[in-house]
Amino acid sequence: MATISKELVKMLNEQINAELESAYLYLGMANYYAMKGLMGFKNNFDKQAKEEMEHAEKIRQYLVDNSKELFIKDIHAPKEVYTSLKDPLVKQLEHEEYVTSLIYKLMEEATNEKDYRTMNFLNWFIDEQAEEENSARALLEEFEVFGEDLTMLYKIDKKLGER
Ligand code: FEO
Repeated sequence: MATISKELVKMLNEQINAELESAYLYLGMANYYAMKGLMGFKNNFDKQAKEEMEHAEKIRQYLVDNSKELFIKDIHAPKEVYTSLKDPLVKQLEHEEYVTSLIYKLMEEATNEKDYRTMNFLNWFIDEQAEEENSARALLEEFEVFGEDLTMLYKIDKKLGER
C-alpha cells in the first residue's frame, strides 16, 4: 500500500506549524489595525487568521486520514512592529510569497518520491497560495493608490468590514 514517507510526514507537520504561525501573524496585524480604529482592516486580518487555521486543520486531517503521526510544536509570537498603515500589507504579501515557497518545497519532495496522493492533496494549496498572493497584492496596490486619501481609506475600510 502506498504510504506517506517519514520525511513528508515531518514536512507536513512543519507546514501545520507554519500555517498556525501565519494565523498568529495575521492576528497581530488585526490587533494593530484595531488600535488604529480601522475595524474593516481588523476584520480582514481576523478572517485571514481563520483561513490559516483552516489550512492547518486541512493538513492535520490529511495526516489523520492516512494514519500518520502528528506533532504539536511551539507557535512563535510574531516579532513584527508595524511602522505605518501600509507596513502590514507589504509584510502580508512577503509572507504569502514565503508560504508559497514552503508549499513548493513540499510539492518537490512529493514529486521526487512519486507520492501521487500527496501531490494531489497539495494542488489545492498551490491554487490557494496563488489566490492569497493575488488578494494581498491587490489590497497593497489599492492602498498605495488611495490609502493617503482619508475618504478613500474609509471606503476601503468599509469594504474590508464586509469581507
Ligand atoms: Fe495558509 Fe496564507 O497561507
